[in-house]
Amino acid sequence: MRASLSLILTTLVSSSLSSTFTYKDAPFGQVITSCLEPNTIALTFDDGPSEYTEHFLDVLRDYGARATFFVLGEAAQQHPEILRRMQDEHHQIGSHTYDHPSLPTLGHDAIVAEMTRLEDVLIPIIEEVPTYMRPPFFDVSDEVLATMSELGYRVVTGSIDTKDYEHDSKDGINISFDKFVSELDAGGSIVLSHDIHYWTGETLLERMLIEISERGLTATTVGDCLGEPLDAWYRPAY
Ligand SMILES: *[C@@H]1O[C@H](CO)[C@@H](O)[C@H](O)[C@H]1NC(C)=O
Ligand SMILES: [Zn+2]
Repeated sequence: MRASLSLILTTLVSSSLSSTFTYKDAPFGQVITSCLEPNTIALTFDDGPSEYTEHFLDVLRDYGARATFFVLGEAAQQHPEILRRMQDEHHQIGSHTYDHPSLPTLGHDAIVAEMTRLEDVLIPIIEEVPTYMRPPFFDVSDEVLATMSELGYRVVTGSIDTKDYEHDSKDGINISFDKFVSELDAGGSIVLSHDIHYWTGETLLERMLIEISERGLTATTVGDCLGEPLDAWYRPAY
């Protein structure tokens, strides 16, 4: 019953939002785990930007690939030029909250504050507000989903988890690549890894891009892999 109540609430909230924003088909109030466009895959990188992120952008550029970065508050504050480069190179920027709490442990107002505090950091830099967010630890609740709908955010988790943070070494990172391949074989399409780990940028990213290309898939952003136009990935800042 909780689920159907949240679905009703979500429907009400999203239909009122759709008159405000340009997008209309965005799945509010549900957790998005997979791409919808055939033959697409969305590489996503959480917790940055970091000192390694420019290297990620270089590798993505070399392969003509696009990706999504779910960023945090202090990291964004420290690397405004990297956020602008992401934008210039047609990657997608999403919210990963200001400082990475497990959102279901917070009350409504604290959840709102986690989101708006990051918006306040991003607005002067990218001059718009992301409409996609990723909940830290993939932790959600009915209240989190309802609050994200209220704020105009779609909630994205994933269907491939490289667990790169557990294997950040020259040899260990192979375990993350093998996990990527087996979860890709199982039909996964939204891939979680992190641009704060050296070996993810040094090895895993390129091996994933080669595998993607060998399979004839296109590495693109979350918005694009859901079939949404660029102007649905953000809303106006003011
Ligand atoms: C990790 O993978 C690379 C590339 O396939 C390979 O050269 C290397 O030997 C592997 N390392 C281990 C410990 O399996
Ligand atoms: Zn995270």
